[in-house]
Formats: sequence, C-alpha cells, structure tokens
Amino acid sequence: MRLTHLQLTDFRSYDAATVTFGPGVTTLVGRNGQGKTNVVEAVRYLSTLSSHRVASDAPLIKFGAARAVIGARVDKGGRSLSLEVTLLPGKANSARLNRGAARPRDLIGIVRTVVFAPEDLALVKGDPGGRRTFMDELCVALQPPLSGDLADYDRVLRQRSSMLKTARNARGDLTMLDIWDEKLAELGGRIVAARRRAVASLAPFVWSAYADVAPDGGDCQVKYSTSLDRSEGRNAEDVEPLAADASAAVIAERLLDRLRELRNKEIERGVTLAGPHRDDLEIRLGEMPAKGYASHGESWSCALALRLGSYDLLTADDGPDSGDDGEPILILDDVFAELDSGRRAALAARLVDASQVLITAAVAEDVPQALSGEVIRVAAGFIEQPDSPAPGQESTPDSPDGSADTDD
Ligand SMILES: Nc1ncnc2c1ncn2[C@@H]1O[C@H](COP(=O)(O)OP(=O)(O)OP(=O)(O)O)[C@@H](O)[C@H]1O
Ligand SMILES: [Mg+2]
Repeated sequence: MRLTHLQLTDFRSYDAATVTFGPGVTTLVGRNGQGKTNVVEAVRYLSTLSSHRVASDAPLIKFGAARAVIGARVDKGGRSLSLEVTLLPGKANSARLNRGAARPRDLIGIVRTVVFAPEDLALVKGDPGGRRTFMDELCVALQPPLSGDLADYDRVLRQRSSMLKTARNARGDLTMLDIWDEKLAELGGRIVAARRRAVASLAPFVWSAYADVAPDGGDCQVKYSTSLDRSEGRNAEDVEPLAADASAAVIAERLLDRLRELRNKEIERGVTLAGPHRDDLEIRLGEMPAKGYASHGESWSCALALRLGSYDLLTADDGPDSGDDGEPILILDDVFAELDSGRRAALAARLVDASQVLITAAVAEDVPQALSGEVIRVAAGFIEQPDSPAPGQESTPDSPDGSADTDD
C-alpha cells in the first residue's frame, strides 16, 4: 500500500498544503516547530481516526478555524482510492471515500500505518492504558470491524459504572445490571479474544526485531495479561488460566462469572473490576519485566521492537482486511536523534526494502545516508518539494492526474 497524495486544509499549522509522495523513503526536514510532525500526524489520522500525540481532535484543527480537512490518495492492491475526513470540533467527523459520502468508520483500515515516535517510550515505562491502546490499534489494523466493538465496549462500561454507583445508593432491583453484564461480557469476550490472537501473532516478530536492534540485549517477550486469569480473594494457582485457543464465547462466559463474583465489591467501589479495560501487555527482557527494570536504552529498544514487530506482522498479514496489500506505511517521527549509531544502522538495514517510509528529522545528518530518500524541506508551515507544481496547478487527492476514479 502506498500514499501518493496528501492534502491538508486548516489542519494544525497548515492553512492549505499539498504533498506528493513517491515510493520508498521520504524525509521531512526542518527546524523545530516548523510543521514536520503535523504532516505525518495527518497520515496517521487517516489510518486510525486518532492522533499519536493528542487524545482529542480539537488541537488538530487550525487554531481559530471551524474545521480541518485531510484528503489523500492511496494505491492499494493495484487500485487507486481517494479518502477524505473532515474534523468538526465537538461534532462527529464526516468522511468521503472515492468522492461518495461514507461513514468515518469505513475509512479505518484502508490506510495502514505504524508510527514510531519519542512518545513510545511510555509503551514500556508508562501505565497499562498506553499498552492497551497499542494492542487495540493493532487489532483494528488486522480486523477493522473490531473498532465498533471497542467503541461499544467503552459506552457500555461507562453506563455500567454509573449504574454501579446508583446501585450502591439504592440496593434492590439489579435486573438492569444483569443486562449490562451480558452486553459487557459479549463485547469484552470479542475484544480479549482479538487481543490474545494479535499478541500471540506479534510475539515472534517482536522477539526478532529486538534481536536486530539490540543484538546483545537478550530475549524480549510479550504476553497478554488478563484480569480474567486473576481472582480477588483466591490464590493465583487456584484460578485456571484461559486456554490459549479460548473462543470469544468462552472468554465472555469467564468474564460474566468474574462479574458475578465481584459484584458486591464493584457496588462498594462503583467501578467495573474485570474486563479488557483492566488487562495489560506484559513485556519482559529475559526473566525480568521491562517496566521498572530495563535501562533507558533497553526501554527504547523494546519500544522500537514493538513497532517494528507490528510492522512485520501487518506486512505478513494476508487476511481478508489486508486487501492483499498489508504492508503499512512506516512513520518514524523524530526518532533518529534518540538512537545511537548501532541502532540507527540496524533500523536502516531493515527499511531499505520497505515500500513506503516517512521520516521526520530536525537535523538531516541524523538520518542514515542509506535512508534519506526524497527530502522535503518544511519551514514555517511551508512545504518545499523538489518537484512542486507551479501555483494554480496543484493536484488534488480527488484528481491527482486528472483521471477518473478507478473505483466507483
Ligand atoms: N491547532 C493548531 N493551530 C495552529 N498551529 C498549530 C496547531 N497545533 C500546532 N500548531 C503549531 O505547529 C507547530 C508544531 O508543528 P510540528 O509539531 O509539526 O513541528 P515539528 O516540525 O515536528 O517540530 P519538532 O522538530 O520540534 O518536532 C507549532 O509551532 C505549533 O504552534
Ligand atoms: Mg516533530
């Protein structure tokens, strides 16, 4: 899969910008604060409808503007597709696919990206929430319809939690709670099953990526750790762990049992104590957990291995949602400055054959020579492309070459 055109309107620092991308590596170079990350953030937004930097959409809209528009054209599985999403503050986004109206959700999974950025250190050192998001994004890339289950789970969880608080004040009729338990368990079962499958597939790729970037660093192992294999008031050895191939229905049943077992405690505390929102991705270096034990450099290598492993897994994925063209766009946002020469070289060696890589760097010399590819200079929100079209002749995602859409 390859991005060929990107067009931004009132996105971040850009009033209007058009960028064309070739295959292989493109490096965006410019001093700090000039708008490099803003460009790759827009590409990543199209793939997940979320930013890798902020949780809400508001900062993505140009300050003072009413909306932002990201448009793109991609080549996927031999077809050319155009995508557009409009971000509206405080309202639902709207979207277009090949010029027709579409649900924003329909765009998810068409563009696949894997972003590695300095913020990723939190994947290793930070709270479980970041690792859950990492797993969920990977699951959605592998299986886009799961994004609906994730959104529904969040909604049901919020409603159930407020019901628990009400139940604390007015004990009695708990029929409604039973209904919410069933919904939560059904959605939770599907989410936990998808995450366990994704992590089991990811593990060998992470192990091998870590061996590449930290050849003397030992084994990096990842494993799904679930609240369903724990039980308050019981010893861990008394709880039979879920079978490796447990189905979504079996996991849902286990979650329902846990909710029944925990109900009094939940009513007391007003929170849901079991389910995918309490789970984690366990990362180990050798015997020890990476969090709390790994050095700064080892943590960086682990974070890089998680992203490179995801990239390799998605590239190898030939499932129905990969469109026979699963290889994602790899985005390396400001990471070379953080890597020593050995890791830079290891990363470069892995990427020379990648179908599309977007790199941002404040200092061009930080990017290994073998990787620099086409260089786009970014200064004060202006994008200077080697073959920029003359003013008035800019191509757009809807008609990059004046030809009609191949897909209708
Ligand atoms: N919603 C917004 N409206 C207007 N300007 C914005 C908005 N959000 C961010 N900016 C501006 O965009 C600039 C940051 O752009 P970006 O993060 O792309 O920089 P960068 O080139 O990647 O810099 P660095 O090398 O420091 O990472 C800042 O000057 C910031 O003020
Ligand atoms: Mg940046």
